[in-house]
Amino acid sequence: MDGAASITVRPFDAGLGAEIAGLDLSVIDADGFAVVRAALDRHFVLRLRGQTLSEPELIRFGQMFGELDPPGPNPYGRPINPDHPELNVISNVKADDGVPIGNLGDGEAVWHQDMTYIETPPKCAVLYGVEVPVGQGDTHFANLFDAYDALDDGLKARIDGKRAIHDASHNSAGMLRKGYEEIDDVTRTPGARQPLVLRHPASGRKCLCLGRRPRSYVPGLTIAESDTLLDALWAHATQPRFTWVQEWRPGDVLIWDNLSVLHRRDAFDGAARRILHRVQIKGDAPPI
Ligand code: SIN
Repeated sequence: MDGAASITVRPFDAGLGAEIAGLDLSVIDADGFAVVRAALDRHFVLRLRGQTLSEPELIRFGQMFGELDPPGPNPYGRPINPDHPELNVISNVKADDGVPIGNLGDGEAVWHQDMTYIETPPKCAVLYGVEVPVGQGDTHFANLFDAYDALDDGLKARIDGKRAIHDASHNSAGMLRKGYEEIDDVTRTPGARQPLVLRHPASGRKCLCLGRRPRSYVPGLTIAESDTLLDALWAHATQPRFTWVQEWRPGDVLIWDNLSVLHRRDAFDGAARRILHRVQIKGDAPPI
C-alpha cells in the first residue's frame, strides 16, 4: 500500500485538483511522498479518501513538505493542542466550559489564502476530516493561475507591479484576532503588502495573489479606485469556472498549495459536529 507502484492520481473534471488513491498516509514513505509532491505541483489541490491518521501521523506527513507552522492560540486565547502544538483544529465543537476546541466556528469562512498577511506566507496545508457532517460545510477552491491567464490584457497591465495590503486583523470567519483593533480606514489596514501577480516558486508561472477581500487596499490608488480594482479581480477569480468543491466525508484528507489557490468554506448547521485536524507548512521566501 505504501509503495509508489499502486498509487493512482486522477484529475477532477473541474480542471483543478486531483484524487490520489492507493496510498495510506499513516505509513507513507519517500516514494509515496514523491508522487504526492509532484501531483500537488501539477494539480494544486489533492484529495485522499478513507484515511485514518493519529495526531503524530498527520504531523509526520505534514513535516515531509517542510517545517510546520504552528497555529497561535484560538480567538479565546486558548492553545489549540498543548500536546501537539504544531496541530490546528478547525471545529465548531465546544469544550465543557463552553470554549470552542478549535477555530472558525460554524459560519462561512470567506475566500482567502492562508496567512498571506505575513511577509512569507505558508506554502501549503493539510486538512484531515475527523468528524464531518455529510452534505454541508463544503470547502471550495479557486485556481489562481487560470484566473490570471483569463484576465483581459488591460486588467493585466493595470495590476502589473502593483501590491495589495492583506489584512492581518481578522480571520476568515470575520473574527478580530487578539491584539488587533477594528479600523475603518483601509489605508491603515495592518498586514503584508503582497504583489497582485506573483511567479509561483515551483513553476515560475504567473498567478494572482489576492489574500482576502475584506479591508484589502492597493497602495498608490484612491480608496475608490482600489475598491473598484479589487472588486473586479475578486469577481473574476471566484467564478465557478475556476473552482472545485470538496464535499466532505470522514477520513478525507485535502492538501493544497497556498500560493496557487483561494479557498472558502460554507456555513453549516451549528448543531452538527465538525472536527478537522490541520497542519500548515512554512513558506521559504516572500512571494515575488
Ligand atoms: C480552512 O480554511 O482551513 C478551513 C476549511 C474548512 O473548514 O473546510
